[in-house]
Amino acid sequence: MTTTVIVGAQWGDEGKGRIVDVLTNHAKYVVRFQGGANAGHTIVVDGKKTVLHLLPSGILHENVKCVIGNGVVIDPEVCLAEIALLKSNGYLTDDTQLTLSLGAHVVMPYHKLIDKLREDGAGGSKIGTTGRGIGPCYEDKVARRGIRVEDIIDENRLRERLEYVLPQMNLYIEKVFGAPTFDFNEIFDKYLKFGAELKKYVYDTVVLLNMAVANRDNILFEGAQGTGLDVDHGTYPFVTSSSTVSGGAASGSGVGPTAIDYVLGVVKAYTTRVGSGPFQTELDDAMGRKLRERGGEYGATTGRARRCGWLDLELLRRSSMINGLSGIALTKLDVLTGFDKIKVCTRYEDDLTPHYIEMPGWKEKLDSADSVEKLPSNARRYIEFIQEQLQLPIAILSHGPARGSEIMISNPFKS
Ligand code: IMP
Repeated sequence: MTTTVIVGAQWGDEGKGRIVDVLTNHAKYVVRFQGGANAGHTIVVDGKKTVLHLLPSGILHENVKCVIGNGVVIDPEVCLAEIALLKSNGYLTDDTQLTLSLGAHVVMPYHKLIDKLREDGAGGSKIGTTGRGIGPCYEDKVARRGIRVEDIIDENRLRERLEYVLPQMNLYIEKVFGAPTFDFNEIFDKYLKFGAELKKYVYDTVVLLNMAVANRDNILFEGAQGTGLDVDHGTYPFVTSSSTVSGGAASGSGVGPTAIDYVLGVVKAYTTRVGSGPFQTELDDAMGRKLRERGGEYGATTGRARRCGWLDLELLRRSSMINGLSGIALTKLDVLTGFDKIKVCTRYEDDLTPHYIEMPGWKEKLDSADSVEKLPSNARRYIEFIQEQLQLPIAILSHGPARGSEIMISNPFKS
């Protein structure tokens, strides 16, 4: 196996960062293929905390090359701030470790403003976005008026594109929201400077990655958000604006689907969701609050409290189908320690009410288990039930917050 795609199988925040961190040890390339600075993970190495929203956490491993693919929307301000943070913490000493796609779209100041203005005025239809301008940037991409990385590194191209798009954006901001408009020169100068600073990282990543595929280098495609937030397959319209599913790895990087060997779906041992939208197994009660406190369920990007609920196998079966999952990584099993009973939704009734089965909980701490056999018997029953119901193997199991508290049952790169 040489190429593995990691996707969130629920609504994001499944603990993908942690699984990516484990598998990065086996990868030569880590690639982001969708989303932007709406994602976020906090990585603690040797007591030093680094929060990244855009750059893959693989950047903390000096022998790993990180690629931001064409399907990502890049906020140059965030990108440069993360580069500066990494350098000041002693990382990214070799600039060839990071490559940005020429074709990735750029998040502009008007995208962020429009995202905020829309949400502020949406009332009950609020999506609960992260406010990072993601939706408006993807809209411009599809409307064919976007500005790409290749434009900000070339003065003439940037002038031409901005002269075309800015009047349209300003008209929209003024007429629809009555908000102050943007000055051409201000944006032009600022983004030209960003482009000049980023230029050394920019390359044709399609060629780079296909050469790596031909070389049979291990490549890890790191999905952001989750299947329930996919623009096609998620709980529309309460979704993000990109293809968060495994198919997005091909279109968002320019590597053909036949080059993908393994798709790993990351599944939290229960379910969470940030922002608005349907959530069948949500627990709006003391049990939900208990899951939130124990699991530290607060967003890394916005700090918002996450909605919590039981595991939903109906959602996961669909997620498995859409992603063509080869196996799953089950995370945060330790959060369920101490519950007398654990419920699992096995299917929905006709009116979409979840049908639950109840399983006995366990009281023993899981930290010291370095194999499935060493887990408490009720925890083993829980994971066996999940495997059986989903007809999928659990490849990795994480059961504690610290690096190392995971059980590698079968390594996707070696299967
Ligand atoms: P947007 O991606 O900022 O447009 O937000 C759209 C929806 O996706 C909102 O419900 C967000 O809370 C959700 N979302 C975006 N990024 C993440 C993430 O990394 N984890 C979980 N939810 C996310």
